[in-house]
Amino acid sequence: MPLTHKRVLLGISGGIAAYKTPDLVRKLTAQGAEVQVVMSESALEFVSSLSLQAVSGKPVRVDLLDTQAEAAMGHIELAKWADMMVIAPATANCIGKLALGIADDLLTTVYMATAAPKVIAPAMNQQMWQAPAVSRNIEQLRNDGVFIFGPDSGEQACGDIGPGRMLEPEHIVDQLAQLFSDENHSLLANKNIVITAGPTREALDPVRYISNHSSGKMGFAIAEAAAKMGARVTLIAGPVNLATPAGCTRIDVMSADDMLTATMQAIAPCDIFIATAAVADYKAQHVAPNKIKKSDGELTLTFTKNPDILKEVANLPQAPFTVGFAAESTDVENYAKQKLAAKNLNMIAANDITVSGLGFNSDFNALHLFWQGHSVQLAPDTKRNLAVSLLQHVATQYQQTLA
Ligand code: PMT
Repeated sequence: MPLTHKRVLLGISGGIAAYKTPDLVRKLTAQGAEVQVVMSESALEFVSSLSLQAVSGKPVRVDLLDTQAEAAMGHIELAKWADMMVIAPATANCIGKLALGIADDLLTTVYMATAAPKVIAPAMNQQMWQAPAVSRNIEQLRNDGVFIFGPDSGEQACGDIGPGRMLEPEHIVDQLAQLFSDENHSLLANKNIVITAGPTREALDPVRYISNHSSGKMGFAIAEAAAKMGARVTLIAGPVNLATPAGCTRIDVMSADDMLTATMQAIAPCDIFIATAAVADYKAQHVAPNKIKKSDGELTLTFTKNPDILKEVANLPQAPFTVGFAAESTDVENYAKQKLAAKNLNMIAANDITVSGLGFNSDFNALHLFWQGHSVQLAPDTKRNLAVSLLQHVATQYQQTLA
């Protein structure tokens, strides 16, 4: 069972759905999980801590400044103890605090202090759920890599009908089990992975830019698969129109220079770096401050080279395991091997962009992987399936570098 021996920190905030949490605890423990409950002050108005202590078998924690409880297991130890943190129900107020980084009680402090994957099950009145502030905060949490379970739609405690009901405990447990059930799940457990994805946009003037046809799908598929394999994923995305994969922290950028800055900021604790982005090799030497006017003559622009993000990362003194991509239209194998050597990479994934239906802006691709005298061909498939296969090879080769 995927939840066997998993240590679940269950945060309960103050909403009517809190009355379902003893059942949630029972269902989690029935799956073999160990549960520690942390309640907000207002949650105590809806469900008794004694019931939760009885079903979890552990004293419930409420106060941040409880010297006795802190002496047994301080809030930082609690945060480190958890394999996952689940907040159910997560009220609008609680979600707002999490999104803004407010840590004014034990629940929100532990949330901020834990590196474990985080799941919230929102529960609130349908009008509140649809309020712009809540939508903004949920979007922020998604971008912070939080898994959002639900909410359900239907009749509410207040009599309203609509979205906002907390998922039933069995559905929360099912989704948690699914999250931890992938057979590859622990393949990249606790590894820090930084992935670049999508195109970059290089400004010419305030209204024009040069870019390319990358959609970001390949990079987002890898980010999604890596998060499912237990990695802590930072996804640095150029301008794309894709939802943030669950469990990933997303940083949006525009130009190659922005992408380099974001990458270098994320790279310090990074174990594996995967560069799927189609970074523009050149940028305008001078970005015109005003719109370039049409004239009778020709227009000549001068371009200068952009930084090579992948090469810079691969040549850092403490370089992570570095995987490049190569989009080639001729002599794919030779160019890919040249890039592997020239950029000092651990692995390169080449794709032949002349094959119709694959590569740029498609849901499908085919990859040819090269590393230290080896190569493997991954046949045409969905980018999602290819992402899993690629990461299996990356994980194996990464382990070899540690051996
Ligand atoms: O985004 P999709 O629509 O899903 O399409 C996926 C893809 C085709 C873009 C992807 O699979 C891919 O091949 N990405 C790399 C495209 C590319 O620009 O390759 P390149 O040969 O120019 O660059 C080689 C490597 O260096 C790449 O890992 C690239 O991210 C990196 N690079 C390149 C230039 C630069 N200035 N900085 C870099 O980091």
